[in-house]
Amino acid sequence: MRPRMIIFLLAIMRIAAGKETMAQYQYLGNVTRLDREGSGVLLHCGADLVRLSFLTGDALRLTLARQGQWQEGVEYALAKIAWPGTNYTLTETATHFMLKTDALEVRIKRAPCRFAFYDARGNLLNQDDEAFGLAWDGNEVAAFKSLLEGEKFFGLGEKTGELDRRGREYTMWNTDDPAYTERTDPLYQSHPFFMGLREGRAYGIFFNNTYRSYFNLGAGNHRLYYFRAEGGPMSYFFFTGPNLQHILSRYSELVGRMPLPPKWALGYQQCRYSYHPESEVRRLAETFREKKIPADVIYLDIDYMDDYRCFTFDPKRFPDPGQLFADLQHLGFKVVTIVDPGIKADSGYAVYDSGVAGGHFLKYPDGQLYSGNVWPGKCHFTDYARAESRQWWGDLIGKFIAAGVAGIWNDMNEPSVWGREAPLLVQFDKDGSKTSLKEMRNLFGHLMAQATIEGLRRHRPHERPFLLTRAGFSGTQRYAASWTGDNVSTFEHLEIGIRLCLAMGLSGISFVGADVGGFAGASSPELMARWMQVGAFTPLFRTHTEVDTPDQEPWSFGEAMEDLNRGYIELRYRLLPYTYTQFQRASITGLPIMKPLFWEFPDDAETYQQHNQTTYLWGDDLLVAPVTREGERLRKVYLPKGKWVDFWENKAYEGGQYIFIDAPLEKLPLFVRGGAVIPMGEVQQYAGEKPDSLITLHVYPGENRESSWYEDDGKSLAYENGEWALTRFNFSVKGKNLTLNISAREGKYIPAARDYRILLHSQAAAPKKITANRRKLGSNEFAFDNKTGTASVMIKDSGEKCEVTFGY
Ligand code: GLC
Repeated sequence: MRPRMIIFLLAIMRIAAGKETMAQYQYLGNVTRLDREGSGVLLHCGADLVRLSFLTGDALRLTLARQGQWQEGVEYALAKIAWPGTNYTLTETATHFMLKTDALEVRIKRAPCRFAFYDARGNLLNQDDEAFGLAWDGNEVAAFKSLLEGEKFFGLGEKTGELDRRGREYTMWNTDDPAYTERTDPLYQSHPFFMGLREGRAYGIFFNNTYRSYFNLGAGNHRLYYFRAEGGPMSYFFFTGPNLQHILSRYSELVGRMPLPPKWALGYQQCRYSYHPESEVRRLAETFREKKIPADVIYLDIDYMDDYRCFTFDPKRFPDPGQLFADLQHLGFKVVTIVDPGIKADSGYAVYDSGVAGGHFLKYPDGQLYSGNVWPGKCHFTDYARAESRQWWGDLIGKFIAAGVAGIWNDMNEPSVWGREAPLLVQFDKDGSKTSLKEMRNLFGHLMAQATIEGLRRHRPHERPFLLTRAGFSGTQRYAASWTGDNVSTFEHLEIGIRLCLAMGLSGISFVGADVGGFAGASSPELMARWMQVGAFTPLFRTHTEVDTPDQEPWSFGEAMEDLNRGYIELRYRLLPYTYTQFQRASITGLPIMKPLFWEFPDDAETYQQHNQTTYLWGDDLLVAPVTREGERLRKVYLPKGKWVDFWENKAYEGGQYIFIDAPLEKLPLFVRGGAVIPMGEVQQYAGEKPDSLITLHVYPGENRESSWYEDDGKSLAYENGEWALTRFNFSVKGKNLTLNISAREGKYIPAARDYRILLHSQAAAPKKITANRRKLGSNEFAFDNKTGTASVMIKDSGEKCEVTFGY
């Protein structure tokens, strides 16, 4: 026989012999026994086991043990391990087991074992595909589910494109892909969490698996959606509604939420690759102050280091960092420095030496140190899975910030090495048990962030830390803010960035931003102006640009542009009382600050349209409709149901319709929800420059509505001990009277004395009579501006209850 023929025959024989070369999934078999245990059940399906346990009445965990083998170990994503459980009833029929709580019903089909989830009223939320369900093939694990008519999917974190993920497949594998496009996947972070929404009913699934995984939400077929991973456990959490908010909040309780950041981190942040030497940094800070452009943060990118050695300063460029930081602090600036994971392999460099001596670096399975090339050339990387190495890293951070560094920026932590990927066999030490990059790659950034933030907390225990990270996993939001990596200075990217930030918000990452002006390439003056408008309404407001690009400071585009950019940065600062309140709320609820229209108006089909996904809500009461197209001067805006008032022109609109609004370059279309009270301060050059001695309460007539204003010292952890203040505003209309009720201040924090200026907007005529706590105000105590239709009243804030009524 000719050799080719022999090879062919051998191949045929191998295929006939079965599984190995013709990969086939195996599916979960029939339920052979059910044991009740704790807050759930253990199902025996032959030798395979499935454990289903309720965390609460509206959330459960489902885990498969093939051949009875549980894959146990540290689960780094999880923040809350102990849950109360719940009472449930168990009913059996010939074909099913039914587990019912007050919010959720799980129907388990016996033959074969398949799961379906219903709400308490018996409406189907989600079900396994009848034939397939849980499956595996070698190390791969998968869950096949029915793709239901009309179902939409949201979440999955840092994914570009349409917010409804249906019809596409996504990969979770942290990847550095600079100058990505609308179709690039994966990017830097992995969040294997999504929510399904159908007929107004929602559920969520968190696939708690850190291996490379895939989410096919109906791409290439009409029957199924599925998620699968190349290894690791089949273990997922299921959350039920009633709504998306409830699910996201429960999920974020599980994996953690953004802690309240220091107020300065909400200010404007200026970055470039790289500001150096020290004289340039000083000049930059002085220019902000001279030009009266508010700013809080200056970043130092990699060139501050001594030949890219982490935790060092270049002795020529930055001879006395301590003095520099002190001087900048004096001007009201905080410095955030980049710290990359690649440690230069260079004996004599103390960090390298102690890393080697302490066994802190990643190794190959044969014990040789793993090295790869990044900025400094040949580098080693810390094994952040190991508690001892995290401690070592955190102490390096602690020592380093002592010079006066205010916050840290973790980059390249996918981890990125030139040539893209470290070999998968590189080993980690999960505190005693060995594992490889297959399991740990998606966690590398997460664990680096953990090590860094723990260092910041240990070494500055009384201050709120600030950390920015590029890579991350589900739960990284409890350690760090995120930015969307290396975008491009194009209008297309302005849109990509908005959608990415919205998608991250829908996945539990509230503190997020895209590089304002774009990282790669040169921004045009127009692009920069439009991006500033968006940046001012993004949680992380940071300008950044690549090495060797033209200047990208707010004043770099000519005087006219400088004024525009200053105006929006000032607006950011004036809105800080409102925005800080939204951050505080997000830190408690885990919900986004920047959110798509459908988030608040789920019954309005128009809000889901792709062309409405660059219009968004900023906090509870502002609607932002940025211009994201070059040359566009007229913006078509969809206003959801309700009343909306143009922030600039005071004109009121009825929602539930599209409007066209003039949007010259200086104008960001911005609307306020009717009934809202927006607390605004005066312009400050940096957060907390002066106490808020005058707070303007902008009142927008509309429906009856409650708003609030949260305050604390903005920097310490005293708020955890009750040192906060909350004032509630209630707007109501009764007949011809419009009333603003200001509650007595709650909480222990006592702000500086101040006045309230109350501005009632969008009025056709002056009120006939205004009373404050039933006392009629004299004509010298209020004013009416005919041109803007605004009535204004000044009162002292005594911290006591106050009622102001505008009578018509
Ligand atoms: C990466 C980062 C970018 C940074 C650069 C140099 O590309 O994403 O923000 O400026 O590295 O450190």
